[in-house]
Amino acid sequence: MDDAINGLLRPKGIAIVGASDTPGKIGHTVVKKLIEGGYEDGIYPVNPKADEILGLKVYKSVLDIPGRVDAAAITVPAKFVYDVAKECGEKGVKGLIIITSGFSEVGEVELEEQIVDLAHSYGMRILGPNVVGTLSNTDKLNASFAPFLPLKGSASLVSQSGALLIAMDAITYTRRIGFDKMISIGNMSDLNFADMVNYLDNDDNTKCLTLYIEGLKDGRRFIDESRQASKPIVVLKSGVSEHGAAAAASHTGSLAGATKVYSAAFNQAGVIQATDLNDLFDCTLALSLQPPMRGENLLVITNGGGVGVLATDSAEQANVPLKFAPKDVQEELKLHMPAFGSAKNPVDLTGMADTDWYHDTVNFAFTHDWVDALVVLYCETAMTNPMEIAQSIYKAISETGIKDKPVTVSFVGGERCEEAMQWLVEHDIPAYNAPDLAVKAMGTLHDFARLQEVKGDTSYENKQADSKAAREIIAKVRSDGRTALTEIESKRIFKAYGLPVVSTELATSEDKAIKLAEANGYPVVLKIVSPDILHKSDAGGVKVNLKDEASVRAAYQEILKNAKAYKADADVHGIAVQHMAPWATEIIIGSINDATFGPTVMFGLGGIFVEVLKDVTFRVAPISKAEAAAMLDEIKSSPILDGVRGETARDKAALADVLAKYAFMVADLTDEVKESDANPVLVYEKGNGVMVVDARIILKDK
Ligand code: ACO
Repeated sequence: MDDAINGLLRPKGIAIVGASDTPGKIGHTVVKKLIEGGYEDGIYPVNPKADEILGLKVYKSVLDIPGRVDAAAITVPAKFVYDVAKECGEKGVKGLIIITSGFSEVGEVELEEQIVDLAHSYGMRILGPNVVGTLSNTDKLNASFAPFLPLKGSASLVSQSGALLIAMDAITYTRRIGFDKMISIGNMSDLNFADMVNYLDNDDNTKCLTLYIEGLKDGRRFIDESRQASKPIVVLKSGVSEHGAAAAASHTGSLAGATKVYSAAFNQAGVIQATDLNDLFDCTLALSLQPPMRGENLLVITNGGGVGVLATDSAEQANVPLKFAPKDVQEELKLHMPAFGSAKNPVDLTGMADTDWYHDTVNFAFTHDWVDALVVLYCETAMTNPMEIAQSIYKAISETGIKDKPVTVSFVGGERCEEAMQWLVEHDIPAYNAPDLAVKAMGTLHDFARLQEVKGDTSYENKQADSKAAREIIAKVRSDGRTALTEIESKRIFKAYGLPVVSTELATSEDKAIKLAEANGYPVVLKIVSPDILHKSDAGGVKVNLKDEASVRAAYQEILKNAKAYKADADVHGIAVQHMAPWATEIIIGSINDATFGPTVMFGLGGIFVEVLKDVTFRVAPISKAEAAAMLDEIKSSPILDGVRGETARDKAALADVLAKYAFMVADLTDEVKESDANPVLVYEKGNGVMVVDARIILKDK
């Protein structure tokens, strides 16, 4: 664990530079909150003009403080922060909590960078600037202007929004969801989400990482740190703008919105995505109190048919569909219900269910090997007391001593149910006021287990890759002053990475075109080759299914004529001749260089699937073959690859291999390639492989 970060977040001694005796000033509030929070390791207000603030001795400078000072909360105006930071460095402070605003968020980038450089020269780390501060229940530390420490618990929050952190702090009490730390991360001039994931994953007092993210600074590192983390991470990502997509030159670029790439990256990193603020709390509650759901068998026990049906519906949506319990389970459960109850799944104990029935069925079911997870539902009835039911459920679960199976609960009713659920949460059983939420929470625990499995293997070694050959082609294109590669150049690069391309050669005369057609075999396709004409079909630059010499000659002339009409001054290299591959299922593969995550690959089925339905999926490159295979199954139209309506299955193994090779290529050439497309790629029947028919690469501007 990084000593400086630990010193910042769990300091032994804290200075408040810019402390003030004037109530209402932030420098006053931070001192007050530190005192109220009960921090015991030394609170040192610093102000050149004051002698005493809130009963504490005030120091003229950090350098005058006699004791150890690990952290300094800075509340002086922006123009003084640099000098204050310097004094902190000289004092041996480990971390700065720069509450002050007025830096990069308003364009003052240089000042912010200077402070970071200065801090690093002293080995200090920075939280902020532009933060509310940092809180830690374990350390009774409220180094912020948030009103109080959160409800005690085992989740920790990192928030990019200060105001939201304060709001969530208060919600911890109404929702009864406990947190240990709440860290405001602000401008992330130094410490960012990746650092926080690393720190909190190693923090003994944190069981679940809850993140509110507006935008990541170092997406790659965030993925790496999250992948390595063993604790659950749940993220609420705001800011779903699709900026930049419209300006993209490639097909993939226009389909890749920021949200889709973020979602792909979170998935790869094993991070769970919350849909909104309530969901963020719901997920946090389950993930901080319960183990992951490792198997597939979810049993629901209820006293009401209606909530049972609602739970059944939600279970499908949450990817934990209910199955009938085995006979022996049903037989045992029947002993605890009237004849008109149901022992299938949901197990309906009926409205007659009392505390004993709940206790006995929950206890039996939770112990049974077939049951991987349990959701217990209760509808308030006149004959039962919700608190007693809650206590019987808790007793039944704790008596089993089982710690590696999850349970969630939903009580539907009035105030008495609310109280009972609070009691359950205080006893580490997540409870929700609607059956679908309890099931969804179980789905989240199931997702966590699944994501832990897939995030493991990420490597793909492409031994065939000839990076040198590819870079030579790129160098030649750059020396021509171009960034758009022709189809022939693009295909040569694809080939250098072992991708199966339909061989395409350049003809600069009709006679050469005939020779190439004969060599490759009829029928052939002719295509214009010009860096100035990227959308070849639109320019009338493509002629297909040419079966003989006469049609090749005619097509050759017509393409040249069309190209001239399309763009009179286009630099025409010649005409590409390729064998016309037999038609098969059309696929599109592409890449972009995402501003946050770098090289990112896209996969989808061609034609209307991509054009109209935008049925595509993304991954940050490189990807393993297993990840590539998962992408194939992720799109809505994936059944087409498995063979529908009597069609035979496509060669998914070869396609996954091509996808992984493609991702390897764009990752390897990330310093050069801006966007690329393989469109169409033809996928033949199982065992017959894949062919890239057209290829496009666009280089980064340098
Ligand atoms: N060392 C020690 N104390 C100093 C120094 C110094 N070098 N220089 C000035 N001070 C003292 C001042 O004398 C003053 O104390 P006083 O009240 O005894 O006179 C104190 O530091 C504060 O300085 P002021 O000039 O009074 O500044 P003020 O308190 O008005 O504002 C602040 C400072 C709060 C840092 C302001 O510049 C700011 O950035 N505000 C926004 C902060 C914020 O909202 N951050 C979180 C964003 S997240 C969210 O929005 C929820």
